[in-house]
Amino acid sequence: MTETEEFKKHLSGVFTRASASYDQAGPRFFSHFGRRLVEFAGILPGTRVLDVACGRGAVLFPASMSVGASGEVVGIDFSEGMIQEISQDISRRGLANSRVLRMDAECLEFPDSYFDSVLCGLLLFFLPNLDRALAGFHRVLKPGGRFAASTFQHVEDKASKRWDALDESFKDTLRPAPNAKTKKMNSEDEIRQVLSQAGFSDIEVASDQETFYFRDEEEWWQVACRPATPPLRAGRDTQSVPSSGSLSQRALSFLRDLLTFYLLTLAGPGCFTQERFDARPDFDKEWTGAIGF
Ligand SMILES: C[S@@+](CC[C@H](N)C(=O)[O-])C[C@H]1O[C@@H](n2cnc3c(N)ncnc32)[C@H](O)[C@@H]1O
Repeated sequence: MTETEEFKKHLSGVFTRASASYDQAGPRFFSHFGRRLVEFAGILPGTRVLDVACGRGAVLFPASMSVGASGEVVGIDFSEGMIQEISQDISRRGLANSRVLRMDAECLEFPDSYFDSVLCGLLLFFLPNLDRALAGFHRVLKPGGRFAASTFQHVEDKASKRWDALDESFKDTLRPAPNAKTKKMNSEDEIRQVLSQAGFSDIEVASDQETFYFRDEEEWWQVACRPATPPLRAGRDTQSVPSSGSLSQRALSFLRDLLTFYLLTLAGPGCFTQERFDARPDFDKEWTGAIGF
């Protein structure tokens, strides 16, 4: 197995293990930015949309609303668990205009010029062959179609160092996850360059920010932290992942600190949108109710 194949097998396993609870509790920040991406993309009724890396439908469900009964949304994801879960979600919601397929974003199996829009929420930084994937997105778009995607911008700060510290605290007990040389797309210049090379034009960049609050430390750990931490990444059964109560002191102090992510959103065969989002563990229960999650 090549390094890339090993990385993809590992990553799809991670998301399959996370799929049952992914974006189903807490502030649901994936759903929030999925909605924002669909708004940025300006999806029209009656159009055909591809949602690349659909996960649990953060982008797919709002897109399904936007295209309406005369439109169509096709979601793809390479994680078996995500596809199973979202298939059930689609049936439960009775959405006749949406379907999902298990497929690698780097090898799209659709005809040329097939979609009016291609949407892609929080995937680009996971792709070992980003240029190839973008060329594929461009190929399946109709002339004049629109590509819109979002990505986090990692910022080197106190919070990012604490993520590293948390990784470090699990180092002795867990095997390291396979890695791949992926592009982080941290700067607007880099994003513009990568998109232009893939054939996109009229690139637009915008920025957005949102702050999310969690009910307590446990919710933050379960929702925002655990899926990103070594136990899950290393492939352990989710049942064996420690709760915050059994974490080391080091991890607990980490839990109490502010986390900041930047979300970059690319839009259009011309648009590029930059978003920013702060995920902040906040232990004031009133806030959670006040913002209606
Ligand atoms: C961070 S999640 C984002 C899911 C969803 N778009 C959202 O905004 O919540 C990343 C998703 O990408 C999928 N994924 C990662 N690499 C992929 C690839 N090469 N092809 C297809 N799906 C991939 C994962 O299985 C996971 O569901």
